[in-house]
Amino acid sequence: MPLLTNLNGHISQTAQVSVLDRGFLYGDSVYEVVRTFRSRHFGLKEHLDRLRQSAAYLYMDVPWTDSEIQAEVEKTLAQADWSDSYVRIVVSRGTESTISLQPSAALQPNLLIVISSIPPEPEMSQTGLHLVIPERLRNSKQALDPAAKTGNYLNNILALLEAQQMGADDALLLNDRGEITEATTSNLWIVRDGTVQTPPVEVGILQGITRTFLMQALHQHNIPHQEIVLRPADLDSAQEAFLSSSVRLLMPVRQINDFVLPSCPGPLTQLLWQALIQQMEQHSTAAQVK
Ligand SMILES: Cc1ncc(COP(=O)(O)O)c(C=O)c1O
Repeated sequence: MPLLTNLNGHISQTAQVSVLDRGFLYGDSVYEVVRTFRSRHFGLKEHLDRLRQSAAYLYMDVPWTDSEIQAEVEKTLAQADWSDSYVRIVVSRGTESTISLQPSAALQPNLLIVISSIPPEPEMSQTGLHLVIPERLRNSKQALDPAAKTGNYLNNILALLEAQQMGADDALLLNDRGEITEATTSNLWIVRDGTVQTPPVEVGILQGITRTFLMQALHQHNIPHQEIVLRPADLDSAQEAFLSSSVRLLMPVRQINDFVLPSCPGPLTQLLWQALIQQMEQHSTAAQVK
């Protein structure tokens, strides 16, 4: 897979971080994944806002301005000999001189950007995903709040592996109150009786940037929608379900546990896919006009 990296401003094929980098040692880092669409990054501002919120949650400093990070992203993208990219922006707390859980006072954060090629025109899957609800729970908000996008993804990795062992594509995680949170790298949406529903942030989820764009699209198209606490039994009355994330946009769901969704991809899923593509088209056209 074609790949380019930028570590603290130095572009190379594969950057090497120190074994004493805290991101490597402890997952002590924050990150964002942005995509480009027609060669323009999409939603970078929103992603950088969330990066700063995640860093603040970890009491971590991000010593670069948004414009500086954007310039590094664009500098890296300009070196790519492909059109559209997955863009990963990582800030680790820094590189230690000895191994210690206690962050040393003199740490300088590291900024790493990794880009790789993705297919230029996104296409929605027609087969849909099979999700299962594993026994493993989503991290508690009081432990490591899922609202912070940190380099520590073990909760999600374990859930994904367990879902795959159960013969499914991905896991749908519950919190300790038995409420549905999200999948391992995406937010959940269901359609019930014409209303599009998604779990609220309070149950313990990452507040997806795609989720925010979809909320705007739902509002613009006057489609009834609500953030609502959902429990597994609520899924059985869903007509459609899908997941959302920045790189894969919308992923229709065909089955959750043993329940097969009546429609996949359903009509509202298809409409929202089109609305999201339209938002991205408008953004890329506006960027070219500037
Ligand atoms: C746990 C989790 N939830 C939701 C999302 C979707 O977020 P976004 O739409 O910002 O990509 C992600 C994306 O990586 C994620 O890792």
